[in-house]
Amino acid sequence: MNIILLGPPGAGKGTQARSLVEERGLVQLSTGDMLREARISGTEMGKVVADVMDRGQLVTDEIVIGLIREKLETVNAPGFIFDGFPRTLPQADALDALLSAMGRHVDAVIEIRVDDAALVDRISGRYTCGSCGEVYHDTTRPTVQAGRCDICGSSDLKRRADDNADSLRTRLLEYYKKTSPLIGYYYAKKQLHPVDGMAGMDEVGGEIAAVLDGAA
Ligand code: AP5
Ligand code: ZN
Repeated sequence: MNIILLGPPGAGKGTQARSLVEERGLVQLSTGDMLREARISGTEMGKVVADVMDRGQLVTDEIVIGLIREKLETVNAPGFIFDGFPRTLPQADALDALLSAMGRHVDAVIEIRVDDAALVDRISGRYTCGSCGEVYHDTTRPTVQAGRCDICGSSDLKRRADDNADSLRTRLLEYYKKTSPLIGYYYAKKQLHPVDGMAGMDEVGGEIAAVLDGAA
């Protein structure tokens, strides 16, 4: 099963993707995580995308499609969760073509709907474990022990460079201008399943599970 998680910055795509990996044995492909890894490892591409990401703009289609192509060609998995990809119509076309060349297709597109005001709260309270990638929040999901990851015990908890008010404004504009047209695109293809992302994390997970069990 191949699933796309669609939604604005802070909607909960990464949070839900991690649960789906655990529950369904699918592989998460997050272009945001791939780009951040490229930055940390200091590759040429990482250097090129750093400023763009920090400003909250979208990286070129060519770069992110290349990243996804490489993963699809090298990772053996029963199915993928696409988290933060596709984000433009050319990326959606490229994904259809890549999957169809493998004899696969998109089974469901989950659109996580969240109000803008809630997105600001979620982004400004988010922190992540630098070691295992677990995502936390100051109020809605703090670590049990202050300063230590619940999953791996690491004290490397950090905030993202693009989680600031200026960058978030740009990320939201980019989402509405370039990514939201995908909602109509997948609706027309009868693949779109909106879920109420304003609910608690477990409720959102339950709604997604109901969709996927219906689509299976
Ligand atoms: P990316 O890393 O994909 O960031 P994003 O889309 O802005 O999404 P986020 O990771 O910020 O949010 P999320 O929806 O995963 O929410 P999360 O689960 O963390 O992209 C970063 C940048 O990379 C882009 O700006 C762009 O420059 C570039 N890029 C990436 N992909 C690209 C592409 N395809 N094309 C071009 N450029 C690309 O949750 C947020 C917080 O809320 C957490 O603290 C969490 O604990 C909390 N939370 C989650 N769910 C709930 C809930 N139900 N109730 C309460 N709190 C909740
Ligand atoms: Zn951890």
